Amino acid sequence: MNVQWYPGHMAKAKRMMQENIKLIDVVIELVDARIPISSKNPDIDSLAANKSRVILLNKYDMADPKYNDLWKSYFDDKGYYTALINSKSGEGVKEIKDIVYKACQEKLERDRRKGIKNRPIRAMIVGIPNVGKSTFINSFVGRATAKTGNKPGVTKGKQWIRLSSKIELLDTPGILWPKFEDPAAGMRLAFIGSINDNIIQMTELALELILFLNKYYPDAIKKRYDIEVPQEMEVIKDCIGTLEQIALKRSCLMKGGEADIERAAKIVLDDFRNVRLGRITLEFP
Ligand code: G4P
Repeated sequence: MNVQWYPGHMAKAKRMMQENIKLIDVVIELVDARIPISSKNPDIDSLAANKSRVILLNKYDMADPKYNDLWKSYFDDKGYYTALINSKSGEGVKEIKDIVYKACQEKLERDRRKGIKNRPIRAMIVGIPNVGKSTFINSFVGRATAKTGNKPGVTKGKQWIRLSSKIELLDTPGILWPKFEDPAAGMRLAFIGSINDNIIQMTELALELILFLNKYYPDAIKKRYDIEVPQEMEVIKDCIGTLEQIALKRSCLMKGGEADIERAAKIVLDDFRNVRLGRITLEFP
C-alpha cells in the first residue's frame, strides 16, 4: 500500500522552523512511541545541527511496554537525552526539566566560562502533526508560568514561556512532516491515524493491520472479536476472511445479508487507535 499525502503547508512550516531554530539552544523532539522512526522527520537532524537534542517518546501508554525501554535505549545509545512520556496524563513530564538541563550542561558550562550568567536555556518543541505537541506543552508548562513577551531578534508575536529561571520555551511548536518515501512508514502513520482517513483506503489499511497483527500480536484480533484466525497469512488477501468474520460478529451486514467489510475495517482501525486491541508497537528497534 502506497499512501500518498498532500503536504499542505510543509514548505512554510519548514521555513518558520529554520527561522526559529536560530534562537534555540535545545530542540525537544516528540516522536510516537509506537512508531519512533516513522514518526521522525530526518530533516530535523540537519535543522538542529549543533543544538542539544532531547527525544521524547510520547504516547508510551499506547505502545507495547516490552519495546518501550528498547526504543529508549536505542535513542540513548545514539547520544540523545530521552524519556518515555504520556503527555495526556502527565506521566514522565515533570522530569523533563531536569533532562533539558542535563542536555544543555555543556552549553551552560561554556556560558559560565564566558562570564554569561543567568541566561535561560531556550527550548523549542518539534514533531509531526498529531504526535502530541500541544498536549505536551500544556502539561509541561502547567499553570504557574508567565509569558515573557517579545524579545529582540524574535519575529513579532513570538512568545516565550518561562518554565523556570533557567528554561524558556517557545510557545509555538515546530511542525515537521514525516517522510513518505518509505511506503511502510506511510502505512504505520496511517494505522495510528496521522493521515487523514479520507485519502486512504480504509479496507486495505485494516487488512494490512490484520496482517501485521497476525504476525506480531497473534492474539489481539482473536481476543477482541472472539473469532478464529488462520495462522498462515502471507498477503492482505488472506485477511479478507478475518475481516468478514469481524463484520458478522459485529452485525455489519449489507442489504443481502453479506458481510460489510468496509464497516468492519473502520471498527478494527478505531479499536486499534483507541488501544482496544491492546498496547501495540508497530516497529521494532
Ligand atoms: P499535535 O499538537 O502534535 O498535533 O497533537 P495534540 O497535542 O493535538 O495531540 C493529538 C492527540 O493525541 C490528542 O487526542 C491528544 O489527547 C493525544 N495525546 C497526546 N499525547 C498523548 C499521550 O501521551 N497519550 C495518549 N494516550 N494520548 C495522547 P485527540 O483524540 O485529538 O483528542 P482527545 O482524545 O484528547 O480529546
